[in-house]
Amino acid sequence: MDRELSLEFVRVTEAAAIACGRLMGKGDKIAADQAAVDAMRTMFDSVNISGTVVIGEGEMDEAPMLYIGETVGAGGMAVDIAVDPLEGTNLVAKGMPGAIAVLAVAPQGGLLHAPDMYMDKIAVGPKAAGKIHIDAPVKENLKAVASALSRKVEDLTVVILDRDRHSRLIKDVRDAGARIKLITDGDVSPVINVGIEGSGIHMLVGSGGAPEGVIAAAALKCLGGDMQGRLLPSDDCEIARAKKMGIGDINKVLTIDDLVHGEDAIFAATAITQGDMLNPVHYFGGGVRTHSIVMRYKSGTVRFVDAIHKLDRKSMIFKRT
Ligand code: FBP
Repeated sequence: MDRELSLEFVRVTEAAAIACGRLMGKGDKIAADQAAVDAMRTMFDSVNISGTVVIGEGEMDEAPMLYIGETVGAGGMAVDIAVDPLEGTNLVAKGMPGAIAVLAVAPQGGLLHAPDMYMDKIAVGPKAAGKIHIDAPVKENLKAVASALSRKVEDLTVVILDRDRHSRLIKDVRDAGARIKLITDGDVSPVINVGIEGSGIHMLVGSGGAPEGVIAAAALKCLGGDMQGRLLPSDDCEIARAKKMGIGDINKVLTIDDLVHGEDAIFAATAITQGDMLNPVHYFGGGVRTHSIVMRYKSGTVRFVDAIHKLDRKSMIFKRT
């Protein structure tokens, strides 16, 4: 994919964040999501790609826009697109930190078509790549990460979604001695942190959405980190859906290269609410300021894009905010 596309994709996540950020704290996660979806969908039409949404807002009959299989773009290279126009709907509804507008793109066939179900995940940064296994006890994985980072387990911080289903996992991490950051929602952002040395986050573990798993894997692949996942279907229906989407072995340990194949991927995210590394959308008289991250696997470049948008000179998509 051309490097120029990186900036085009940032424009897409910026548009979603600007539209959605207006609804921060309004207590309406559906409206916030809709605003992000509408803006992202519209902005895609200005990008020179022939994109197919492989991870999106749902099946065609349940989502009017950015549904799985929808084609987007103004024409160009055939690419697969994974979108989460608003990752962290509750976070925006309540004005809490950690919500982002996010997408990942790869040449056609480059992204796992993950069904909407849970996935068990473990993610670590570049120095611990190749040292973890999703089936190993968390204590062993923590030891391996500590050793790779030349520090004690007590000096590691692990992010886990604060859910009852994780109570055993949380106990095991505590018993192993690591520090824990429990989050209420949004497990893509912490995976970006895991991949960036100095972020203070060393591992993400536990189950969350499978679509979010693929998007996070694209970020971590660009950053040189490592991730494994395993689908957690809750019933036969979900197994059938996974099979329909081309996943033959439901129990397979999915490596980062299974989640994002090949040597080409672009990841872009814009903060909506305050992030650990990204500032939230700021609105001011006549303009908006956004803060994004964009990464390209081929070159390994990571860019932070701090942008000021003058709304009086922008297209309708921005003015609608
Ligand atoms: P939204 O769909 O509301 O944006 O939720 C995002 C999220 O928190 C993901 O980041 C995470 O993978 C998943 O939901 C966790 O699901 P659950 O809330 O069911 O534990």
